[in-house]
Amino acid sequence: MKRKLIIDCDPGQDDCINLFMALPHTDLYDILGITVVAGNVSLEKVSRNARMICEMSNRFDIPVYEGCDSPFDVPLVTAEEVHSDEGLEGIEVFEPEIKAQDKHAVDFIIDTLMAAESGEITLIPTGPLTNIASAIEKEPLIIDKISEIVMMGGALREGGNVTPSAEFNIFVDPKAAQIVFSSKCKITVFGLDVTHQVLSSFEVLERIGTIENKVAQSAYNLLTCYGRYDAEKYGNDGAPLHDPCTMAYILKPDLFEFNTRNISLFSS
Ligand code: BDR
Ligand code: CA
Repeated sequence: MKRKLIIDCDPGQDDCINLFMALPHTDLYDILGITVVAGNVSLEKVSRNARMICEMSNRFDIPVYEGCDSPFDVPLVTAEEVHSDEGLEGIEVFEPEIKAQDKHAVDFIIDTLMAAESGEITLIPTGPLTNIASAIEKEPLIIDKISEIVMMGGALREGGNVTPSAEFNIFVDPKAAQIVFSSKCKITVFGLDVTHQVLSSFEVLERIGTIENKVAQSAYNLLTCYGRYDAEKYGNDGAPLHDPCTMAYILKPDLFEFNTRNISLFSS
């Protein structure tokens, strides 16, 4: 049976590359929906960006659901300084034909999981965990339906990218992270320790630039802009492909080695 995925994201340049990686493989898994959450930019903009990316990838069939526009207990912090005002520096944004679904993303997640068999659905969050945590809070029975949460967030020995220790997705909604990490789901975490090793090197980027199709050209332009930020800040050879680690794992799990860790989060 094909794996069933829900991708929860805040596009965002690296979320966009992750979606470009996810969307073509109709034969490998079913994407039941894309849910968006405020993070890199506002909810309105991440929704437009996700729908644009579906349209550019010719996936008019995937429903896009808008979720939470702010974190649990704290004001929203966004990352325009990294991703630009519209969130997708390198691509000219447009108003897509695809419209957002009427249903709230949290209700879509709950209804879809509750209608599924036990352990049937994989969640792939690449933004703040507000939508996923809200769904768990509202209907804890969904936990049993989740086969795995494959997420980008956090840092262990690597420093943070917002504060000296905090990574953006966890920093934006720490309460949501606490709810998800306390949930007893199987969680596969790609934190900064991993994602800072996965760079879009300038050599690979030049090869992508020679591929003559719309998605490859957009990926080239996005990553060229995104890489510039990290080259200036950290002296890296290209951009860290944070969110694309999640789909790389779904597509080719052998690329990574894993350790089992207990993640304890304490509330203040
Ligand atoms: C994470 O923060 C966001 O800016 C990126 O999209 C990624 O999900 C990296 O810390
Ligand atoms: Ca993201």
